[in-house]
Amino acid sequence: MKLAVIGTGYVGLVTGACFSSLGNQVVCVDKDPKRVALLKKGRVPFYEPGLPELVAKNTKAGRLKFTRKLAGAVSSAEVVFIAVGTPSRSNGQADVSAVIEVAKEISGVMKKLRHGHKVIVNKSTVPVGMGDIVSKILVENKVPKNNFSVVSNPEFLREGSAIGDFMRPDRVVIGADNSQAFNIITDLYRPLNAHIIFTSIKSAELIKYASNAFLATKISFINEIANICERVGSDISEVANAVGLDKRIGRHFLNAGLGYGGSCLPKDVSALVHLSRENGHEPMLLSAVREVNEFQIDAFIGKIIKKLGNLRSKNIAVLGLAFKPETDDMREAPSIKVVQALIKKGARVSAYDPAAAPNASRLIKEAKLVKDMFTAIEGADALVVLTEWPEFVEIDLERVKKALKSPLIFDGRNIYDRGRVEDAGLEYVGVGR
Ligand code: UGA
Repeated sequence: MKLAVIGTGYVGLVTGACFSSLGNQVVCVDKDPKRVALLKKGRVPFYEPGLPELVAKNTKAGRLKFTRKLAGAVSSAEVVFIAVGTPSRSNGQADVSAVIEVAKEISGVMKKLRHGHKVIVNKSTVPVGMGDIVSKILVENKVPKNNFSVVSNPEFLREGSAIGDFMRPDRVVIGADNSQAFNIITDLYRPLNAHIIFTSIKSAELIKYASNAFLATKISFINEIANICERVGSDISEVANAVGLDKRIGRHFLNAGLGYGGSCLPKDVSALVHLSRENGHEPMLLSAVREVNEFQIDAFIGKIIKKLGNLRSKNIAVLGLAFKPETDDMREAPSIKVVQALIKKGARVSAYDPAAAPNASRLIKEAKLVKDMFTAIEGADALVVLTEWPEFVEIDLERVKKALKSPLIFDGRNIYDRGRVEDAGLEYVGVGR
């Protein structure tokens, strides 16, 4: 099929690259000339394992193209994916202005076309009702009703494993108001042999928010239990492992620590809170989910201050800045607040992250960003782990003991076994243990 994908962020680029690798002709559109120039050279402007190779391979095969010109891409496409950002406004509401702008631009192209039906697919995470708004924009801009269908097809990919998530999804949700549109999008996903679910457009829109909000709830729930563990002497890792073996609960997203960050979970929980309030329901549970998430960071900073006392003239080594491993994304990363708080209290922070240093340097200017783990650790008064990159998990703890000035580890992601750390002669402070 001929596809146009508007927006080359994580969702748009992964969608475009993956659909092209399934044999479709894909044109990805972005307004940013620098981004388009980079992509044309086969370079990906962010860190995502496997994506540069996939983009290069399909560009070379002629199945994947990049352009700034929306008109050409849309006029020849059978399916148009809208995959632009919907960031948070200061009140938590999702800012859908980019989606509206794109819908208007698509209308401008489509009204000039005499025939041909197109499916306009919303991949951006948008508040319930956005499908209707996109349809309205097209109709108001003189696109004949019979020439288009609007579909909601939310994306569930995770940064760091986006390609695997796209190619082997747990489910594909297609929200449509007619079977013709549903069948066209089903055909696109057919090679994946995925579990495809047909819903109304409004249900599909809510499924995305409900999924992310549930994941956030699981994390805040286990963090709440971790806080209870600390007070009663239980160990959250043991508790989570056993609780998670219950198939009704499941072990995923039960890792206690600094809470959820990133560009999706915080934004989507806030947007759902806003949507709920706007429609007359005060979301009690979701508000608590956010509160617990903020508490985790404050409580962790509190532990460091309590143990080290006055932070003035203390050197602190930080391992991990990205909001999670396998990404260079710093959006809503707990590290920002932790490092800023330590610096505000007078500490000198030396930090290492395998991928996020360039992005981090713009956000936490006062920290010294170094090029390897032991440069950060050497001579420090404490080691603070904020992201669970595999190389931190496998670190030589005996060497850490020798390198640190005082043998103390604050493990914000519970990546170390307390026994192993203590055997190496280090004092251990985790979350909920
Ligand atoms: C999330 C969802 O997992 C995807 O399904 C969704 O498509 C995506 O948002 C999106 O809406 O685009 P992502 O933001 O890439 O994906 O990250 P996650 O893997 O969900 O992790 C989110 C945060 O939760 C990270 O900060 C991570 O450290 C934290 N987390 C995760 C925990 O604190 N504990 C856990 O057990 C799991």
